[in-house]
Amino acid sequence: MAPGDQPLSTGPSAAGAPDGADLSIAARAAELRDLIAYHNERYHTLDAPEIPDADYDALVRELQAIEERHPELRTEDSPTRAVGGAPSATFAPVEHELPMMSLDNAFDRGELDAWAERVAKGLDLGDAAAPVGYLCELKIDGVACSLRYEEGQLVLAATRGNGRVGEDITANVRGIAAIPDRLRGSSPPRVVEIRGEIYLPVPTFEALNAAQEAAGLPRYANPRNTAAGSLRQKDPAITASRGLAFWSYQLGVVEGGPGLEGHGEALDWMDELGLPVNPERRRVSTVDEVAAFADHWLEHRHDLDYEIDGAVVKVDRLVRQRALGSTAKAPRWAIAYKFPPEERTTKLREIQVSIGRTGKATPFAVLEPVFVGGSTVQMATLHNQDQVELKDVRPGDTVIVRKAGDVIPEVLGPVVAERRKGLRRWKMPDACPACGHELVRPDGEAHTFCVNPACPAQRQTRIEHFASRVGMDIEGMGESRVQLFLQEGLIADVGDIYSIDWDRVAPLEGFGQVSIDNLRAAIEESKTRPLARLLVGLGIRHLGPAGAEALAGSFAHIDDIAAATEEDIAAIDGVGPTIARSVAQYLASDDARALIERLRAAGVNLEGSAPSDVPKVLAGLSVVVTGTLDNFSRDEAAEAIKVRGGKSPGSVSKKTTAVVVGAEPGASKLSKAEELGVPMLDEDGFAHLLETGELPDA
Ligand code: IVH
Repeated sequence: MAPGDQPLSTGPSAAGAPDGADLSIAARAAELRDLIAYHNERYHTLDAPEIPDADYDALVRELQAIEERHPELRTEDSPTRAVGGAPSATFAPVEHELPMMSLDNAFDRGELDAWAERVAKGLDLGDAAAPVGYLCELKIDGVACSLRYEEGQLVLAATRGNGRVGEDITANVRGIAAIPDRLRGSSPPRVVEIRGEIYLPVPTFEALNAAQEAAGLPRYANPRNTAAGSLRQKDPAITASRGLAFWSYQLGVVEGGPGLEGHGEALDWMDELGLPVNPERRRVSTVDEVAAFADHWLEHRHDLDYEIDGAVVKVDRLVRQRALGSTAKAPRWAIAYKFPPEERTTKLREIQVSIGRTGKATPFAVLEPVFVGGSTVQMATLHNQDQVELKDVRPGDTVIVRKAGDVIPEVLGPVVAERRKGLRRWKMPDACPACGHELVRPDGEAHTFCVNPACPAQRQTRIEHFASRVGMDIEGMGESRVQLFLQEGLIADVGDIYSIDWDRVAPLEGFGQVSIDNLRAAIEESKTRPLARLLVGLGIRHLGPAGAEALAGSFAHIDDIAAATEEDIAAIDGVGPTIARSVAQYLASDDARALIERLRAAGVNLEGSAPSDVPKVLAGLSVVVTGTLDNFSRDEAAEAIKVRGGKSPGSVSKKTTAVVVGAEPGASKLSKAEELGVPMLDEDGFAHLLETGELPDA
């Protein structure tokens, strides 16, 4: 069994506990060592981490805390003393001339201050507020790499490995455009080793994932893992194709370089040598300024096109760095000030299905609440059956949850090593959880639907959506009131909102005269909303606010939209064929027509913003336009016909009233018109028709 399979809270055995320590604490320390070693290997050697960094950090901190309280439990090989993982067999080993160290972490302001105090003490400054001189950088979330240049030429690139021995990845690194093969300038140092982070820019990561999805393949979890995986390809051409990038942040071995006094100068020098150095660096004096730098980037981390997971603070002056020295694992002169995690693991309690207003059945994860990305997450959409299958998340799994800033929380995938035996794959239920009606997945569709229009869940979400801000914006008509009104039989669907029996509302719990008056006023006011809001509120599939605006701006009345053909609707700028089909189908349905009559009777505004004062002289007529006209574009001609109540189809039939013929007309339309004896008009004749609704005298 892999250590990851073990539950985190209990230890396997308490054997061998040294005197003084509680047996169960000793067992827990042993278990933590195992777990950390296991996850180290997954992360550093196999490039397949199973848990987010934050969970790993928590394990290390727990072990550190035990070792601090019980020094007798600290072993020689404790992972709290080691850096990274063992080198893999795929790439040749490289011994680092200077060890590649890791960084200690500060997880909050208190830990940052404590570090600053240690620094001040170590430098004999006495006071943490004394100006130490720090260089603040971003903590890039990628893969550490060392680049060795000799006489200006890149000769070796290596991973960090365990800090002493890394792997030779020179061939792969040569394909990274951001890393120069030759240093800039005519007198490069004899040797310079540049350390930095190879990373995958977020837009590149998203493009890679879009390609994965298009090919029906699972998404990559995050840019860091993808960068690590891309770097470890046996074929350098694959690495080169991935679009990796690099930020330099530290000097290693230097022979024949300039005399440098500070780390900031070292960064400037790397920049002069032609290496990419992150511009978001700042030299500051006090720890308050360090915290301000970190706070700024915590807020703006998603403005960058690469991922960061904190700030790195380094004592700037090199003599001071030397004075402070290092522990076995990390320098004392630097600290990683980590942001709160955006990924955590938690238990997937179950997968439930919600039914939307169009009947769409959406599976969602019910999670053990977890604080991640600045808020507590307990639910996350899983989108559809295919997504659940691709991610292979199963009820009972430990799953990785990501919430980046304001972005909607997402379940990235399971921690397979922690899966209990016998956990079943999840399947979309056959029946709607709200009404028991069959769930149907149409051919070629990713989504499954409840096709029962009377489904209570659909009714509820339809009414909520109608009354919501994007729709008719009826304040006070939220989820709980809609639910109550439905339960009480006061409304059954959208059309009932305008004929609520208020005498029956008065005795309901939570309703006083004031709240009734307010709700009635809000409903009354909603009658004047622009047509676009009503169209959105009706919840027509695919029709969003932009499409609704385009429709309302092109038609004078909802009746005109209902009378228009699918082609007419599709001809409107901002309305594609999918929306046009959906709108036409919806407005042709008996339910929609009945609803519109009820809204009309209630006095709801049904008028669009297209000029409606034009007389409908072409009502019932059908006019086909072919060829180029002098005074109208094709769209304008069609619009002029429609505004007057006419139709402007794309082909000639028995029903065509007239064909307007411009320059270079379509031959088939002409011959069809001739064959059927449909009158043909020139542009003057068209103008006459638009004005009078009558054909000019022959
Ligand atoms: S300095 C001896 N600076 O974070 C100091 N590291 O958790 C060496 N990292 O191993 C590291 N951004 O892979 C440094 N601006 C930065 C960094 C940075 C990201 C990584 C690096 C390091 C790890 C420690």
